[in-house]
Amino acid sequence: MIELRDLTKRYGPKTAVDGLSFTVRPGTVTGFLGPNGAGKSTTMRMVLGLDAPTRGDVRIEGKYYTELKEPLHSIGALLEAKGVHGGRSAYNHLLCLAQSNGIPERRVGEVLEMVGLEGVARKRPKGFSLGMGQRLGIAGALLGDPRILMFDEPVNGLDPEGIHWIRTLMQRLAREGRTVFVSSHLMSEMAQTAEHLVVIGQGKLLADTSMAQFIAENSRTHVRVRTPEPERMRDVLTAEGLRPATGADGALEVDGAEAPRIGELAAAHRLVLHELSTQRASLEEAFMRLTAQSVEYHGHAPGDGDMPAPGQPPGPAGGPAPGTGTGPGEATGPAQGPPGGGQPPPAWGQDWRRRGGGR
Ligand SMILES: Nc1ncnc2c1ncn2[C@@H]1O[C@H](COP(=O)(O)OP(=O)(O)OP(=O)(O)O)[C@@H](O)[C@H]1O
Ligand SMILES: [Mg+2]
Repeated sequence: MIELRDLTKRYGPKTAVDGLSFTVRPGTVTGFLGPNGAGKSTTMRMVLGLDAPTRGDVRIEGKYYTELKEPLHSIGALLEAKGVHGGRSAYNHLLCLAQSNGIPERRVGEVLEMVGLEGVARKRPKGFSLGMGQRLGIAGALLGDPRILMFDEPVNGLDPEGIHWIRTLMQRLAREGRTVFVSSHLMSEMAQTAEHLVVIGQGKLLADTSMAQFIAENSRTHVRVRTPEPERMRDVLTAEGLRPATGADGALEVDGAEAPRIGELAAAHRLVLHELSTQRASLEEAFMRLTAQSVEYHGHAPGDGDMPAPGQPPGPAGGPAPGTGTGPGEATGPAQGPPGGGQPPPAWGQDWRRRGGGR
């Protein structure tokens, strides 16, 4: 278990981590999400005692990291895969770690095999690819067979087989009752790996919830209906108190009713359906909506509305934040926009519910 209490880190005027309090529990993979610069790596560094909190604290199984006698048995971490002595072989790098933590040498061979690096054990990491470096870092994290594992963007640089391998590994470690805390920007990957999520933005806690609840609360599920008689279908739905919207391709989109009910209504009115499908939002969509106002670093495509013309300040009416949508009846956001002058994102959370499907 990792427990954070009011954890705060300031670098000069910059508050990188701002009063974070949450607990990472054993037996499950907890995803740690946040836009670039949100404070994930800083938080993880403080867990390991590599950075001192300005305020608050963080404990590992009730102790500060510096109080752990053989830390690799309690917590194994991959933070910065490049933090390896480049001139020492992969085997010797791990052997040094093992010896300093009272771990027998045979464990070095075991972890090298687990991560698939046994063939390059005697090679120096400075010649390793990004993915090989990640694997070596993961081997180091596993060395002490720790009860807690913490990975900062572990799939960075891994090939598809490697991504699949680490997902399976993390889930297995969690099933064994360990605490697994992992950050990633790969939402589709995270959606398949984590059961619990902690989301931060600009150092502050935005969500600490199960994956299912996070997606349900921060996104919209609707039913898509395609029929050769959309106007008649619309009348039927409207008579039932529903307010269908029309999607970009002419399909009707219905909030506030499940697909079976809509199918039954169509059958009762002898309406032919070409499609009746429940559209569930992705983790990516939910994440982008929740964090839209916390994104500090925005990319711009050439021709974006909010890209300032040479010599001009950014205009107030830029393009929407990615994934926020601007379809008819989309909720309009609060008056305050994100830094950089983009169009404010839609108000979030209960907003879909408040609208009760009215679009
Ligand atoms: N040593 C440091 N000195 C000054 N500022 C720092 C330092 N480390 C981090 N920061 C700042 O703290 C903020 C949080 O950075 P951090 O690396 O923790 O974010 P992150 O969530 O890991 O981002 P990313 O997704 O890009 O890895 C950033 O604004 C960063 O510039
Ligand atoms: Mg980081």
